[in-house]
Amino acid sequence: MTTTSRAQGATVWLAGLPSAGKTTIGRILAGRLRSQGHRVEVLDGDEIRRFLSAGLGFSRADRHTNAQRIGLVAEVLARNGVLAVVPVIAPYADSREAVRKRHEASGTPYLEVHVATPVEVCSERDVKGLYARQAAGRLKGLTGVDDPYEPPVDPALTLETQGQTPEESAGAVYAVLAARGLV
Ligand SMILES: Nc1ncnc2c1ncn2[C@@H]1O[C@H](COP(=O)(O)OP(=O)(O)OP(=O)(O)O)[C@@H](O)[C@H]1O
Ligand SMILES: [Mg+2]
Repeated sequence: MTTTSRAQGATVWLAGLPSAGKTTIGRILAGRLRSQGHRVEVLDGDEIRRFLSAGLGFSRADRHTNAQRIGLVAEVLARNGVLAVVPVIAPYADSREAVRKRHEASGTPYLEVHVATPVEVCSERDVKGLYARQAAGRLKGLTGVDDPYEPPVDPALTLETQGQTPEESAGAVYAVLAARGLV
């Protein structure tokens, strides 16, 4: 008799401001999951904008479209047994809600994690120099500064990264996945 095992996938969306820690946490989490034999894909905002969302800008409509495209890919992956880790700002509540509904419609687990680093801490980290450029008047429409950011209201997990190491933050996400029987 042969048995087939079907891995349970899930989407883990890491939402938060620029420099909040999404990419850092996503990479650590993905590494840990891979080392345990899980199939994992990281859909990072920056990479997606170079390919799947090439040509989109940062208007409300384009930011929404970007999130919907990423949500579609994540859901397809997760429905087929992959753990989709999504470090993407996703500034609008209605965008994230539509992604959640897409997952619900197919019965695919979806976890929203709020990487809730305060804007003051993010602007000190300023990994890409965006906050400095905004302050110098060389960039307009920075999420959380002069563009809207609607924080998640009912996330599966809120991370206060300013009091944690990246490993601790990633470990907290892992613990939620484990508690839900997804890893
Ligand atoms: N607990 C933590 N979790 C994640 N990152 C942390 C933490 N503590 C400090 N950091 C630092 O904060 C920075 C976060 O940068 P990162 O590129 O991950 O942000 P991001 O949210 O992906 O930003 P962006 O939206 O611009 O891509 C890194 O330099 C990281 O080392
Ligand atoms: Mg990033």
